[in-house]
Amino acid sequence: MIDLFPSKNLLKILFLLNSFIPLALSVTLFNWTILIINDSKNQALTTHCQTNGDDIGTKTLSPAEKQAFLCPVLVKQRTVASCDMTLGNLHGRFDVLDWDRDRNRCVDKACLWHVNEDGVFLLLNGQWVLQYTWPK
Ligand SMILES: *[C@@H]1O[C@H](CO)[C@@H](O)[C@H](O)[C@H]1NC(C)=O
Ligand SMILES: *[C@@H]1O[C@H](CO)[C@@H](O)[C@H](O)[C@H]1NC(C)=O
Repeated sequence: MIDLFPSKNLLKILFLLNSFIPLALSVTLFNWTILIINDSKNQALTTHCQTNGDDIGTKTLSPAEKQAFLCPVLVKQRTVASCDMTLGNLHGRFDVLDWDRDRNRCVDKACLWHVNEDGVFLLLNGQWVLQYTWPK
């Protein structure tokens, strides 16, 4: 009889945990900053980005303009931010944040990108390193 009480409590605790875990999994851990810089000498860059599947809209970067946005890093799912980019007649779709890939190489919770006719570059250890070329 005495044994019943602990197991009852255990069931209660398991029940509570069960109802809270799904909630906890959808929570934002923190925000990751993504900065996209138009590095072309004479062409406007148009971006159309999504964070975790949410559309954040289309933006055209005119001279010397940068686009910065936050991507919530979620507990539940793999966090990915991706953008359709158009530079003149060049067009491609690129992941600008992939949590599994980038969490250890982008510093200060930010991924900084430069885009020009040669492709899409990520700032790594103080240098712009080519990550994507434009699809032909
Ligand atoms: C992430 O950014 C959004 C929008 O700016 C803000 O409302 C939210 O509180 C931030 N979340 C965290 C965990 O910092
Ligand atoms: C960005 O786009 C404009 C064209 O709208 C271009 O003139 C400018 O030089 C580009 N690059 C930078 C770094 O601003």
